Amino acid sequence: MNPALAQLQPYPFEKLRALLAGAQPAADRSPIALSIGEPKHRSPDFVAQALTDSLDKLAVYPTTLGLAELRQSIVNWCEQRFAVPAGWMDAARHVLPVNGTREALFAFTQTVVDRSAKGLVVSPNPFYQIYEGAALLAGAEPHYLPCLEQQGFNPDFDAVPEEVWQRCQILFLCSPGNPTGALIPLPVLKKLIALADQYDFVIAADECYSELYFDEDVPPPGLLTACAELGRSDFKRCVVFHSLSKRSNLPGLRSGFVAGDADILKAFLLYRTYHGCAMPVQTQLASIAAWNDEAHVRANRDLYREKFDAVLQILAPVMDVQRPDGGFYLWAKTPGDDTTFTRKLFAAEHVTVVPGSYLSREVNGVNPGAGRVRMALVAPLAECIEAAERIARFLRSN
Ligand SMILES: Cc1ncc(COP(=O)(O)O)c(C=O)c1O
Repeated sequence: MNPALAQLQPYPFEKLRALLAGAQPAADRSPIALSIGEPKHRSPDFVAQALTDSLDKLAVYPTTLGLAELRQSIVNWCEQRFAVPAGWMDAARHVLPVNGTREALFAFTQTVVDRSAKGLVVSPNPFYQIYEGAALLAGAEPHYLPCLEQQGFNPDFDAVPEEVWQRCQILFLCSPGNPTGALIPLPVLKKLIALADQYDFVIAADECYSELYFDEDVPPPGLLTACAELGRSDFKRCVVFHSLSKRSNLPGLRSGFVAGDADILKAFLLYRTYHGCAMPVQTQLASIAAWNDEAHVRANRDLYREKFDAVLQILAPVMDVQRPDGGFYLWAKTPGDDTTFTRKLFAAEHVTVVPGSYLSREVNGVNPGAGRVRMALVAPLAECIEAAERIARFLRSN
């Protein structure tokens, strides 16, 4: 067996199951899960139609590079969404389709890490668990940057020692963050690009929540925006990860893309060719329909806005919780220990949340997720309101 497998941590949901095992929720309460970040809004009908219209493509082997039409749709989307000047992105070299960002983040890490160098994969803490597992299986050492409230839930990049930058091979960014919802500001992105040049590392920007934001007039910037503003037309050392899962409520389609530095993508394409993860042609055709339409994405944001407004009105008077910059999570402070809160809330109200400490690692005695829980507002409005009312009642009676 691969000895690195033994380094993998139990997934947070496994720990959660163990935590809640044996707890007896009140029989008169229906279960409400705020634990899983699975979008629940309706998938767009026109995407489902495009998929069924192309089922004859089941007879075709897809290529790893994907259809030129899909890559061009993605380029068009990047240009309009992140103000990338026309002509900078070449659909043949700067874009690759991926079967969701989860597999892409994993495979990308295997492509980029140089095992012989004993390098670091640097990530926020708390973090999306794939960054860590991918680093360990690639033979790199994960290095965690705490995301604390006093820094707006972003890492304090100025406090990172030079030795860490020197050993860094990949810097993972997650903006808007899971679970914090924090956005990395544009000036910080620009500063990180300068550091990547100075210390020769790759920035892997996980932006799969980028289309879930609250102010229609202010879409969050991404790493491509920073490249555009810097005149960095080759996107050197910069790679972004985007997905239809949250943007378009298509988590089951398994469709996303990776875009940026053409040299890195060339190596990634080679890795993927052997890895065997080409996107099925019918999925590509459905994805083109999704990337070409913004109306359903705006409607999706409207639904989240309505839910955040309603839930925060109920929760803000009873707990320390704020509207995030983006995404669909609340990152709320618990009175006392987050695991105790999670277990007691489940037993009393049959509402499931994720303890923040399960999404973070303890470094130097500090777990930056401790004392917080993550709540995903993915369920329908009425269910989110019901969950918030139960949490408020639980907090008032404890
Ligand atoms: C931060 C983050 N990145 C990536 C993913 C993977 O999403 P997908 O593989 O559906 O694109 C998720 C899913 O929850 C996530 O929270």
